[in-house]
Amino acid sequence: MAFREYKIGARMFGVALSSSMFITLVMPTMDMRQAIATDMAIHKQLSAGWETGFNLQDPFMQGDNKPLTVTVHADPKTGAPINPPMTVYVYRPGVRMPNGVDHPVTLGENGGMLSVQLGHVKEANAAQGAVFGIGHGDVNGQQFAYIEDLTATKGWSPEDVLSKAKDEDIAHIGAGKTLFVREQCWWCHTLLPEETQDWQYFGAPPALGDFNGESPTAFGSDRKAPDLLHVAARNSSREWLMMHFFNPRLVQPHSIMPRYDYLWGKVDANGNKIDFDAWRKAYLDYHEGRSPLPPDVPMYAKDSDIRSLIDFVLSLK
Ligand code: HEC
Repeated sequence: MAFREYKIGARMFGVALSSSMFITLVMPTMDMRQAIATDMAIHKQLSAGWETGFNLQDPFMQGDNKPLTVTVHADPKTGAPINPPMTVYVYRPGVRMPNGVDHPVTLGENGGMLSVQLGHVKEANAAQGAVFGIGHGDVNGQQFAYIEDLTATKGWSPEDVLSKAKDEDIAHIGAGKTLFVREQCWWCHTLLPEETQDWQYFGAPPALGDFNGESPTAFGSDRKAPDLLHVAARNSSREWLMMHFFNPRLVQPHSIMPRYDYLWGKVDANGNKIDFDAWRKAYLDYHEGRSPLPPDVPMYAKDSDIRSLIDFVLSLK
């Protein structure tokens, strides 16, 4: 009898805890099973690849084993022009397949079915590599986006596409997203405009179906800086981004954003060693009024980390 109140309290606590767990864990899971992958979700997972957080294929998060997003202007097999140009996602041999290819059902029931039946994703093979595109198909009069394995449907191999592509048509979005996670941009920036006045400046919040298969989502922890989900829609200048990453104070005098000049690596686009000390000295001369102009920012090398990071930022439209 002495423990009666305790027993009632413990049961009430159990009921409260399990209902709150049900609401926070089970209910959203049921909702997410219904989510139909949008074009955005498929673009994100195909461009970023299987995983852009820590993983054993890229333990130091250097952006290894990632797909390339390529703009194709002509059929790589026949040479016939493609107008408007088409975006394809090239998985070179050995690169792990994206989630929707391993588990088509995660695209939603119909998108998954179309990916298998029309898109032939079951034929994709990581050892040989594959080229993917986004297709659209009808089920009962409604349109669904699906993943198309262009290697199976058109015979385009990663080598066919890459050997014809110019460097400026290749975007290293997957490697760039890995760097966005590794460099912890999400401590300050969100990728999640809220359903408030945010709409007016940062653009529309994402929809549930925009996330199927994306890992991680990089929503951000809290916001100390502008939301970046649609940043390239308001600023798509590669030159501005270069200056801003090399030293944000070049374009925003009171910015609290750290500089990311080390992402340039050791050499510039011409293979010349970048002299960071000389650069900072010249910058200080400018900052303290001894020289009228800041020093030029070196053009980055094609395979530098900063190129991938900027490719990723420019993909956020
Ligand atoms: C310490 C906080 C902080 C971190 C970390 C940070 N930023 Fe920023 N970022 C800011 C602030 C503040 C601004 C706004 C002022 C400015 O433009 O510098 C900004 C602006 C930007 C802009 C321009 C936004 C616009 O609306 O035009 C981009 C793009 C950007 N950051 C990308 C990045 C990326 C990518 C990283 C990671 C490599 C990063 N930032 C890391 C604070 C941060």
